[in-house]
Amino acid sequence: MSPIPPLPSHHRALTLKSTEVGLELTTVPTPVPSHGTVLVHVEAASVLSYHREIFNGARKYPLPSSTKDGAGFAGGYSAVGRVASVGPDATLLKPGQLVFADCVIHARDDPAGVFYLVGVATGSTDGGRYLANHVWRDGAFAEYVALPLENCVPLDESRLCSAPSAGGLGYSVADLAYASYLLVAYGGLRDIGLEPGETLIVCPATGGFGGAGVMTAVAMGARVIAMGRNATELARLQDRVATTYTAGNSHVETAAGSSTHLRSAIRALRRGGRVSLMGMTDDFADRSVVANNLTLKGKVMYEREDMVLFFKLLEAGLFPRGGGLDGGNENNFAHTKAFGLHQSQEALDAAAEHTGIGRSVVFAPEGMD
Ligand SMILES: NC(=O)c1ccc[n+]([C@@H]2O[C@H](COP(=O)([O-])OP(=O)(O)OC[C@H]3O[C@@H](n4cnc5c(N)ncnc54)[C@H](OP(=O)(O)O)[C@@H]3O)[C@@H](O)[C@H]2O)c1
Repeated sequence: MSPIPPLPSHHRALTLKSTEVGLELTTVPTPVPSHGTVLVHVEAASVLSYHREIFNGARKYPLPSSTKDGAGFAGGYSAVGRVASVGPDATLLKPGQLVFADCVIHARDDPAGVFYLVGVATGSTDGGRYLANHVWRDGAFAEYVALPLENCVPLDESRLCSAPSAGGLGYSVADLAYASYLLVAYGGLRDIGLEPGETLIVCPATGGFGGAGVMTAVAMGARVIAMGRNATELARLQDRVATTYTAGNSHVETAAGSSTHLRSAIRALRRGGRVSLMGMTDDFADRSVVANNLTLKGKVMYEREDMVLFFKLLEAGLFPRGGGLDGGNENNFAHTKAFGLHQSQEALDAAAEHTGIGRSVVFAPEGMD
């Protein structure tokens, strides 16, 4: 376990006060954890391909309003970091431990009803808006993030990060942040009960979360058909799985705000097949759902049990091994680009471009600033 620096009274965070201005590097007070809270020293905070669009207002996500003091909120998604300090009721989490720090907040007194992603959006409930404005407000684009205890999963650092010659899997801490993509796919695939040996179509397979779906399904033992319209990206997937190219007229489809790929995938399913819908689309209505007794389930993110089981799979060595920061082999676990907090625009721009299976962009406040 590495030593952690003493807690500073203040730390740096990338704060959004308005979408006109965008993320700003600010200095904010470091929270002192009370009951139910853990403070994590962030080592790698994942950046989404569409964070730029959220923070410049192009995507109309519901954001926390600036609170009474006008402080705004720190952006973010999930992260990997080290426990800096815990509240008095922590029993598992210990200072210094490497953890996955999850951005999904559930209200403790209404876990099924109130749900949002801290640092991304408030969700659509009054409870989510309240918590995002007043309690769990700041995301992981910072040196420290405070989260509910249950949002952190301890990681077996020795197994995950040691060199293969020492029995480890060779992941860098920055690589491990790619779990924030894989977990979304894992949540959806567990939700429809994917079994080893079953055949799965991942569609579209060429983006960040679609590519993560391919990698996760292979690790879960499925036979995967990766479907998409981007021939270059499909070629990258060919070493791992079967691919199929959809030659629909994407420009016409995009202009019309629709596409046919999902319907085509749904029509290809056997009778009794299952579909996990994880992307935001309206284009899934098809009569084959009725004719073939299909089950369609929507899934947003994952449950805590999914997180715990996911890291067991990872620690068991079922995913590709690590390749290190900017590692050259595209078939490794993650090809990660890391940025400092002072490089917010560069990081958001890189995340919008560096997408697809294994591609990951993170803020690494410690190493890069
Ligand atoms: N369910 C959840 O919990 C959850 C969690 C996170 C994100 N999401 C959703 O996932 C979505 C994707 O995010 P991402 O980071 O993976 O984005 P991304 O990296 O930009 O990938 C977008 C994917 O969609 C494909 N695509 C876009 N327009 C298309 C069209 N008209 N026809 C066919 N394919 C099209 C792209 O194909 P090309 O490669 O051909 O361009 C690419 O494969 C987001 O919109 C987000 O709402 C859901």
